[in-house]
Amino acid sequence: MDKLVIEGGKPLYGEVSISGAKNAALPLLAATMLCPGQHILRNVPDLRDTRTIIKLLESFGSECRRIARGVWQIELTDITNFEAAYDLVKTMRASVLVLGPLLARFGVARVSLPGGCAIGARPIDFHLQALQKMGAELILREGYVEAKCHGRLSGADICFDIPSVTGTENILMAAALARGVTVIKNAAREPEIGNLIDMLRAMGADIKGRGTDILSVNGVAELQPADTKIIPDRIETGTYLIAVGAAGGEIIIKDCNPAHLPALLEKMRAAGLVIEEGKNTLKVCGSRPLNSIDIKTMPYPGFPTDLQAQVMALMTLTDGLSVINETIFENRFMHVAELRRMGANIKVDGRSAIVKGCGGLTGARVMATDLRASASLVVAGLAARGVTEISRIYHLERGYDNLAGKLTALGAVIRQVKE
Ligand code: EPU
Repeated sequence: MDKLVIEGGKPLYGEVSISGAKNAALPLLAATMLCPGQHILRNVPDLRDTRTIIKLLESFGSECRRIARGVWQIELTDITNFEAAYDLVKTMRASVLVLGPLLARFGVARVSLPGGCAIGARPIDFHLQALQKMGAELILREGYVEAKCHGRLSGADICFDIPSVTGTENILMAAALARGVTVIKNAAREPEIGNLIDMLRAMGADIKGRGTDILSVNGVAELQPADTKIIPDRIETGTYLIAVGAAGGEIIIKDCNPAHLPALLEKMRAAGLVIEEGKNTLKVCGSRPLNSIDIKTMPYPGFPTDLQAQVMALMTLTDGLSVINETIFENRFMHVAELRRMGANIKVDGRSAIVKGCGGLTGARVMATDLRASASLVVAGLAARGVTEISRIYHLERGYDNLAGKLTALGAVIRQVKE
């Protein structure tokens, strides 16, 4: 297993280019199963999670070919297997995104139920209830959900208790080929959903309400393959922005979409970062002193839970008090104990963390527990005095394309070494 060794205290300068969004690439790759013919997906990030879903598609019989850097040609003509096995699903919960497409096109699917994970229980009951309303018969057996439907799924009125990102995506894909109209109320509005809707529309789907929390899908009998570009990763963008806030310096973030980060940009300006927005670029200057800010994670366009841990690392560097409220996942404070090992003063009370700025962190040996928690340790390590060693970095490889390489190019002293 590899670890990252960071010599902290070096400001970041230069340019960094943002990769395609992991959380858009996963549903778009799953959507290629909805019809025969060759799909082209561009700007696909090279991540452990995208490799996992490609392996899953191949297990169903999809032919997946990388025809250029970041460009994949994918085609599912004859399905050879209807089962998403536990071994793949346990390494990536988003594997559940194949359920909607399999049911919609083939009328049958067997998908391992994802278990709990490091950030919370994360059930998939919304996905299952919605598919049942659309006429799917579901049985939970031996840790798998076995689903089938006779003929096409039927359009239905669906209202999510909470806007679920992958829930909305799964039902959009299922509804695209259903008979009649499906209305999804309290739908998630994340930009990744807009990207999926654009792909489905290019395939011939009839979807109204893009960007709103009410989506209406008039199902069609068949779809055609499409050529689609994955949007820039807003969480990777936010992580570099916060990193320069922590380490100091001045960087230009290229190939990003600042319009997808409204809440972060407002909060980071309030924290004292100087940010200039271009259409596809951000110029960020990490000046001192840092102001403490409060954040509350919310569905888009609110503050993203996937940037909560990184902002918490930044807030340890102020001289004030910051309250961080996590409303999306019940257990997303695993980074707190590791940040404390670096000198942070953080108290957790239920879903709130109170960060008392300690003015600076010191390097330590810490352990990554999930993807974004790991990113917060990198942010902390860049700012800390001395050397930080982060073990179990396979979490980072799930969602950050060439993190160590990109940070090195910005002047960070960071090495990936074998443990
Ligand atoms: N929920 C349910 N039942 C469901 C579905 C969701 O109770 O059937 C609850 C969840 O437990 C959670 C809330 O609803 O409390 C929202 O969860 P959501 O379904 O939106 O999360 P997700 O679709 O599983 C995606 C991202 C996550 C990101 C969340 C929130 C992908 C592949 N994953 O997860 O990304 O944190 O939305 O924005 O899109 C990450 O990239 O590190 C990551 C965890």
